[in-house]
Amino acid sequence: MTGPALQRLDSHHAIHEAALGEAEELTDGLRAAVRNNDAVLAANIAQWLMEHWEGRILRHADEEEAGLYLDLARARPGLAEVVVQLRRDHDLMRRILAEAKLMTDARGVDGDALRRFEALLLIDAIHSRDEEERLLPAAR
Ligand SMILES: [Fe+2]
Ligand SMILES: [Fe+2]
Repeated sequence: MTGPALQRLDSHHAIHEAALGEAEELTDGLRAAVRNNDAVLAANIAQWLMEHWEGRILRHADEEEAGLYLDLARARPGLAEVVVQLRRDHDLMRRILAEAKLMTDARGVDGDALRRFEALLLIDAIHSRDEEERLLPAAR
């Protein structure tokens, strides 16, 4: 069963905006630390950023898959394809984050790891917009 905060477009949009905004700020800090060759600061920010992606954004994705997506796909069979696409976005984010983690653990934050964190921002922004435009209007 889905909670009302995820069913309502305005509150769900606010959750997306707040989480993405924080991820953008942390990624800006990470980019600056990498540019300044500050490996210690970069490692610390990368740690916060990974916790943020895991604990906020991907946890939100897990909740959607366990509730909202199931409820909507059941209630509106016409949305099944959209739900498949949105799940795929979540999967890509999980996989890219796992890659960033492996890279960071193995050799600190370099350009390859930074590109993963930047890719996550782009995918999440597109994903959230599609969710808000294609899925949530049907949730009411
Ligand atoms: Fe989502
Ligand atoms: Fe969402």
